[in-house]
Amino acid sequence: MFKKKNKNNHSKSMARKLVVQSNPKSVIAEQFRTIRTNINFSMPDQDLKTLLITSSEPSEGKSTTAANIAGVFAQGGKRVILIDSDMRKPTAHYTFHLVNSFGLSSLLTKQCTLEEAIKQTDVEGLDVIPSGSIPPNPAELLGSNRMDSIVDELSQQYDLIVFDTPPILSVADAQIISNKCDATVLVINSGGTDKTNVLKAKEALEVSKANIIGVVMNNFKLEKDHYYYQYYGNAE
Ligand SMILES: Nc1ncnc2c1ncn2[C@@H]1O[C@H](COP(=O)(O)OP(=O)(O)O)[C@@H](O)[C@H]1O
Ligand SMILES: [Mg+2]
Repeated sequence: MFKKKNKNNHSKSMARKLVVQSNPKSVIAEQFRTIRTNINFSMPDQDLKTLLITSSEPSEGKSTTAANIAGVFAQGGKRVILIDSDMRKPTAHYTFHLVNSFGLSSLLTKQCTLEEAIKQTDVEGLDVIPSGSIPPNPAELLGSNRMDSIVDELSQQYDLIVFDTPPILSVADAQIISNKCDATVLVINSGGTDKTNVLKAKEALEVSKANIIGVVMNNFKLEKDHYYYQYYGNAE
């Protein structure tokens, strides 16, 4: 009992920090700014309004990547909203220390207004819609007309909407939203993801006509003599 409580506390507090905000000069924050540049370059002729972050398996770094990408775009001057559309294992409310009583699930079931679901964060220009309480039918809710009208409304208020999602090979949720998004980024845990699963995830996204603009290699071990370490190492 006691052990379990400690474990939960750790995963909910210490492990979740927005590095681009807490340590903006770090190598990791610099990498997120590079990802921002690459995303901007990947769609030079098209307005990028909706961006989905997913991966094939759980715990590959989707939520970490989604929150930090949303953070660097906000730091770059855009009005950004991060939507925790992983209504199965939501984490954005831990990362941003938010109350999760009203969120996406409450919005989709008309239990609150858009204003009540949107939470401000410590990052200027970045708002978050947490998941809300876990519903029995996330995929159905995400595929609803109400979801479309919420996204339409948010598009008027924000420059960029970032969706955090469940793993693509487990449930249909990410596929459903990817079909409606301008761009999709696939996170790959370079230390652990099975290659066959990466290919399966790519195929699943292609089936739903997602526009895959690139992958983020998470957990990639840089060599100590890599120039990033020499150039940025002292700036931390
Ligand atoms: N590159 C990394 N190095 C160390 N820890 C990481 C890294 N990426 C993610 N984590 C941690 O791993 C756990 C799972 O990451 P998370 O982003 O929640 O994955 P997902 O959303 O894909 O399930 C979190 O505790 C997170 O802080
Ligand atoms: Mg997650």
